[in-house]
Amino acid sequence: MLDERVRAVMQRLGEEDRLEREQGLPSEVRARAIAPTTGRFLFALVAHHPGCAVLELGGSRGYSSLWLGAGVRHFGGRVVSFEIDPVKCERRRENVAEAGLEDTIELVDGDALELLPPLDDVFDVVFVDAEKDDYERLFQIAREKVEPGAVLVADNVLSHEETLGAYSRARQVDPTLASVTVPLDRGLELSVVLTRSV
Ligand SMILES: C[S@@+](CC[C@H](N)C(=O)[O-])C[C@H]1O[C@@H](n2cnc3c(N)ncnc32)[C@H](O)[C@@H]1O
Repeated sequence: MLDERVRAVMQRLGEEDRLEREQGLPSEVRARAIAPTTGRFLFALVAHHPGCAVLELGGSRGYSSLWLGAGVRHFGGRVVSFEIDPVKCERRRENVAEAGLEDTIELVDGDALELLPPLDDVFDVVFVDAEKDDYERLFQIAREKVEPGAVLVADNVLSHEETLGAYSRARQVDPTLASVTVPLDRGLELSVVLTRSV
């Protein structure tokens, strides 16, 4: 499922993340990577889809980007990943290259809230993993970049239910979506786009 280069970088990043959590480093300097099982879930979500175009909002040092990139690579897909922190951007560029996924993952360094709206691309899968207070705005922007049949996944909806409960409720009452909270790791809100937004 994963080649040796990808696996080695993922393992190192997973260990870095574990140590940073254990040491209680401030969240702005930590990688805050997804759990490995969430990575496998994302891999499975994108891997079956030929030419899958994936948008990632909040790439950090590249751990989740590697899962998504490794998933889409089999059937010729691509990932466009946004990250705002310049130090993390530098590290993820090295990590993605070391994993051999630089031709599959396009790295955009900067604020997705600013840089995403002018993009003309259409995506099949969107993964939202940025600051919790921005999820709603990021969703609204990403919603304009997808068509019926697309899937949007937001992480941390159970670990940060006080902030993100409203995000999940809004998706679940939206008649243009079918949305479910998946109780995996920190909680994923998975929203399938049924019709165009009105
Ligand atoms: C929870 S971490 C992402 C972890 C990453 N998905 C992983 O599993 O490796 C959130 C990241 O989103 C970035 N971020 C926050 N707001 C952003 C924005 N408006 N545009 C782009 N990146 C943003 C942060 O700098 C941080 O690295």
